[in-house]
Amino acid sequence: MKFFTTVHDVASPQQLLQEAIELKKDPFGFSELGKNKVLGLLFMNPSLRTRLSMQKAAMNLGMQVIVMNINQDSWTLEFNDGAVMNSTRQEHVKDAAAVMGLYCDIIGVRCFPSLTNREEDYSEKILLQFMKYCKKPFISLESATLHPLQSLADAITIKEFQKQKIPKVVLTWAPHIKPLPQAVANSFAEWMRFSEVDLVITHPEGYELQEDFTKGATICYHQTEALLDADFVYVKNWSSYNEYGLMPKVEEDWLLSEQKMKLTNNAHLMHCLPVRRNVEVPDELLDGPNSLILQQAENRIYSAQVVLKKMLETNYNKLQNVVEKNVLMEE
Ligand code: CP
Repeated sequence: MKFFTTVHDVASPQQLLQEAIELKKDPFGFSELGKNKVLGLLFMNPSLRTRLSMQKAAMNLGMQVIVMNINQDSWTLEFNDGAVMNSTRQEHVKDAAAVMGLYCDIIGVRCFPSLTNREEDYSEKILLQFMKYCKKPFISLESATLHPLQSLADAITIKEFQKQKIPKVVLTWAPHIKPLPQAVANSFAEWMRFSEVDLVITHPEGYELQEDFTKGATICYHQTEALLDADFVYVKNWSSYNEYGLMPKVEEDWLLSEQKMKLTNNAHLMHCLPVRRNVEVPDELLDGPNSLILQQAENRIYSAQVVLKKMLETNYNKLQNVVEKNVLMEE
């Protein structure tokens, strides 16, 4: 594996998922694989799970880890080609990423969207520039549009807890106090297409996701209708894609409740965390017997570990040639 930025980077998502489940049974079985290899983690935004699970996964494989909060601990980066850097941005990503590529064997970057410029966010301009200039195997730690490590962990969790051959999985929009990215929802929808599930996405009008990501899913504007007989309920807020980054007014009550969960097939409750308790999801559901929030967080270790393992197993010299020849973005 050369890159992990979307489900489309994975030759067989189901095989990767099975391999992650095997790794979980024996997390230290490949502790020599990462010897003398360095993982570099670059965060442009806050993180708890992604940061720590990546470190734990790398340690399980015997790797060393370097972590940096970009723009806080480092110089402030410029991303525009040809910029005259006479203002507040002190270093171009072209130089910074290239240097990091010299220090690290695998690089991961977290870069959230602006939520102000849809075209730029959905072009993944920031992520692609890091990929282009670091010239190393590359992992998205959540980009402007996708969060593949989270979705792989979610798919593992569903696999572990499903009782039905084809479970009904409902992704439901939830209230929030501020606009959030669409990345977790986009990514979950994208990964579920490669799982044997019946996916229903429910949200108020005005919160439609980009159709590229939701292909194959049933879209339902009535939460209670969507919840009927659900086996898994994944709760997440996202801001509007059409009225980009805004929060169109919602009249109905979209906060999930024990009463609403009675409509389901005793469904498991999922959330990627962090969660604003009693705003997005009530305490009684998060702390209830059907909650899988900690299982999802634990599986972040194994989604990260299986991706790192696949990258470490790749022939590095061959990989370097591929990266240089198959240009990610035209010069
Ligand atoms: N779910 C998730 O990505 O958590 P963090 O933002 O804390 O990394």
